[in-house]
Amino acid sequence: MIMEVNLTVLLRLLVTALSVVIFLSWTVCGLDNGLALTPPMGWLSWGKFRCKTDCRKDPRNCLSEKLFQEMADTLISDGYKAAGYEYINIDDCWMSRMRDREQRLFPDPQRFPNGIQGIANYVHDRGLKLGIYNTFGKTTCMGFPGSQGFLELDAKTFAEWQVDMLKMDGCFTPTHLIPDGYMDMHRFLNATGRHILYSCSWPFYLRADGKHPNYNHIAKYCNIWRNSMDIEDSWESVLKIIDDFAAHQDAHIPAAGPGHFHDPDMLVVGGSGLDLAQSQTQFALWAILAAPLLMGNDLRSVKPEFRDVLLNTDVIAVNQDPLGRMGQKIFTDSVRRVEGWKRELTNEKYAIVYFNRNTKEETLYKTSLTAMRLPRNHTYDLRDLFLKKHFGHFKVEEEFKISIPPNGVRMFKTSSCSLPKNFVHDGL
Ligand code: GLA
Repeated sequence: MIMEVNLTVLLRLLVTALSVVIFLSWTVCGLDNGLALTPPMGWLSWGKFRCKTDCRKDPRNCLSEKLFQEMADTLISDGYKAAGYEYINIDDCWMSRMRDREQRLFPDPQRFPNGIQGIANYVHDRGLKLGIYNTFGKTTCMGFPGSQGFLELDAKTFAEWQVDMLKMDGCFTPTHLIPDGYMDMHRFLNATGRHILYSCSWPFYLRADGKHPNYNHIAKYCNIWRNSMDIEDSWESVLKIIDDFAAHQDAHIPAAGPGHFHDPDMLVVGGSGLDLAQSQTQFALWAILAAPLLMGNDLRSVKPEFRDVLLNTDVIAVNQDPLGRMGQKIFTDSVRRVEGWKRELTNEKYAIVYFNRNTKEETLYKTSLTAMRLPRNHTYDLRDLFLKKHFGHFKVEEEFKISIPPNGVRMFKTSSCSLPKNFVHDGL
C-alpha cells in the first residue's frame, strides 16, 4: 500500500517536473530580452554619412568617435533625448579591414582611438544607448569583415563593449543560410546575458530572393526587422516603401506587437530630400505603422521646422502607444487621390491619417469617420496632431471637410465620448 502511494506520488512529481521543463523550454525559445516594448527611437549613421572613412579629407563628416559624440551631444541639446530618442547607432564601415590575432573584430584605431567601448561609455554617461552593425555573411555590404563563422565571438565582443543594439545585415549570404544564421545569433546574444536589441534584415533578403518570409517566426527571434529596400533621402523612395507596406499589410500585422516590430527603414526627415508636408507624411505614417523612429539625418544641421516634426510629442505618443498595434491603410479614394490610414491605440482611441497623394494641389476633402471604419456607437473628438489643436466632435456618419496639402497629411487622434449638448464644429 505504502509502496503504491509512493509510486503514484513519484509519478505525479515526475509529470509535474516534466511539464515545468516543457513549459520553460517553450517560454525561452521566443525572444525574451524584454526590449522594444515600443518601437525603438534614435539616430543611425548610414542615412547621411554612409561609408565616409576618410577623416583627413572630411573630418567633420567621416565616421569617427568625434562624429558619434557630436550626434549624442546634439540628441541631448536639441531636445531629441527628452522626446524619447535614445539610441546612437553605428552602421557599416566602423571596422578595421581585418580581425585581430584572436579573430576579434576591432574598430579602425585612427577613427576610433578609444574603441567602441569608449563611445559606449560616452553615450551611457549621458543616459543614451549604443547600437552597432555587422553582417551575417562573409563581409558587410561595404566589404568589411562579416560575422560568418564568428557569430558567437562577435556576440561576446559586442556585449563586452556594452553595446545595446545590433543591426545584423545579410549581404552576400545565400538565402538558405539566412534563417539559421539569424536564429544562431539570437541565441548567442541571449547567452551573453546583456540585453541587446536585435535588428534583423532577414525578411528583406528572403524577399529579394523571391521568397515569402514567415513574419510570425521571425518575430520570435528579432526585435525589429527590415522588410523592404533601403530608403533614400527622396520622396519617391519614401512612397515606394509606404506602398510596399500597404500591399503587404495583411501579412505584416499579425506579427507586430510589443517586443517585435516591422522596420520600414530610417526617417529621412531633416535631410534634403523631403519638403515639410512630405516630412510630416513620413513621420505620421511611421507612427501609424508602429515603426522604429531611427533618424538618418545630420542632427547638427536639421532646420527648425523639420526638427519640430521630429519632436512632435503627439505623433511620437502615437508611435509609442503601449498597445503596440500596427496600423494600416483603410481606404484609397482613387478619384480624389486620398488615402485613409488608421491605428488602434490604448483606451479605445485611434490615430487616423488622411494622406493626399496629389503632388501639386491642396485637396479639400469631404469625408466622415465611417470611411475610417470607426466603431459606430460612439461620437468622436478629433485632435489635429500637427496643428496641435482641437478639430471637432463628430458622430461617425457626420460629414466634415479637411484641407490636405499636396503630398501631405492631416493626422488626428480620436477619443470617443458622448455628444455635448450645445456642440458646434470648430475646424476646417
Ligand atoms: C544595407 C542595409 C543598409 C545599410 C548598408 C550598409 O544596404 O540595408 O541599411 O546598413 O547595408 O552597408
